[in-house]
Amino acid sequence: EPEVPSFIASKVSQYSCQRKTTLNNHNKKFTDAFEIMAENYEFKENEIFCLEFLRAASVLKFLPFPVTRMKDIQGLPCMGDRARDVIEEIIEEGESSRAKEVLNDERYKSFKQFTSVFGVGVKTSEKWYRMGLRTLEEVKADKTLKLSKMQKAGFLYYEDLVSCVSKAEADAVSLIVKNTVCTFLPDALVTITGGFRRGKKIGHDIDFLITNPGPREDDELLHKGLLLYCDIIESTFVKEQLPSRKVDAMDNFQKCFAILKLYQPRVNNSSYNTSKNFDMAEVKDWKAIRVDLVITPFEQYAYALLGWTGSRQFGRDLRRYAAHEKKMILDNHALYDRRERIFLKAGSEEEIFTHLGLDYVEPWERNA
Ligand code: CTP
Ligand code: MN
Ligand code: MN
Ligand code: MN
Repeated sequence: EPEVPSFIASKVSQYSCQRKTTLNNHNKKFTDAFEIMAENYEFKENEIFCLEFLRAASVLKFLPFPVTRMKDIQGLPCMGDRARDVIEEIIEEGESSRAKEVLNDERYKSFKQFTSVFGVGVKTSEKWYRMGLRTLEEVKADKTLKLSKMQKAGFLYYEDLVSCVSKAEADAVSLIVKNTVCTFLPDALVTITGGFRRGKKIGHDIDFLITNPGPREDDELLHKGLLLYCDIIESTFVKEQLPSRKVDAMDNFQKCFAILKLYQPRVNNSSYNTSKNFDMAEVKDWKAIRVDLVITPFEQYAYALLGWTGSRQFGRDLRRYAAHEKKMILDNHALYDRRERIFLKAGSEEEIFTHLGLDYVEPWERNA
């Protein structure tokens, strides 16, 4: 007799690192609403309510069936009153009036536009909003604003950067990055991380991890050209320092938030006939693409790979699990056991899960 897998809500872990979450989301209409609510709280810098909705969204992404009755979420972790209210309304009315209100909210709409520019975060958006600015057109027209180098690039390549990166573009860029890195470091390992490693078909950028087996990394690599725009952040990692305990820790790797010029063959060649056709010469044959390049020392590679593969929620829960269940501190560089007072070495992601006493979760099951 075939075994029927029964779903037991009370056995679902509150930590997404103990769940397998693929991209097959059966509850998109709920999780979309939750993510709008969470983003609005992020814009208001209310981290508690923001995380509450992100955790609830993450649990529903894991459910192997679509929720149709309130009974379906009975016993599930991370379902607070605010999340339940949204679910109840979507079940009854087909949509959430709260999420709809957020989408129509003036402040939310402005922040959404502002933060869509590379280099603009919540802090800058807040500043612009307080100055009375509401749209990107108004920001661009305001000549008193002092934009950072990053934001200037963000406006310059805006149209390209808001259009998502496809898997095909990610593969093309991957070849370019690998070839370029290998001319400088023939033994280097170049790995795509982020959403593409989790199996996503589109992304807002392409994330790369670069490491050189051997005693030390090449800290000159990022200075050797290849990029349209590049904001190099030098490594600030100090040996023996304890991992960071912050929820969303920035790591200390040398990294580069870059914009790469990807040449693309023109789709329509039919009117391409004479060299005197100046109009054709002006057709842009490239696309600006956001690329994150992270250089890691070889012995930290597994930790960096786990951290940069995400999802962001999966990473948050890994660190929360390590801290609360294991008395360990995890970040993108290392894992520290506070009871034993030792750093735990790892050569692979599997080893990190083992150190934490967790079953291994494949990258494509980390879409929490
Ligand atoms: N990350 C990190 N440290 C940073 C920036 C990002 O550890 N300073 C991690 C994030 O936690 C995330 C992963 O790197 O899990 C990739 O980040 P990001 O590119 O923002 O997200 P993706 O999951 O790749 O999604 P997208 O398609 O939007 O790029
Ligand atoms: Mn399924
Ligand atoms: Mn990414
Ligand atoms: Mn990124």
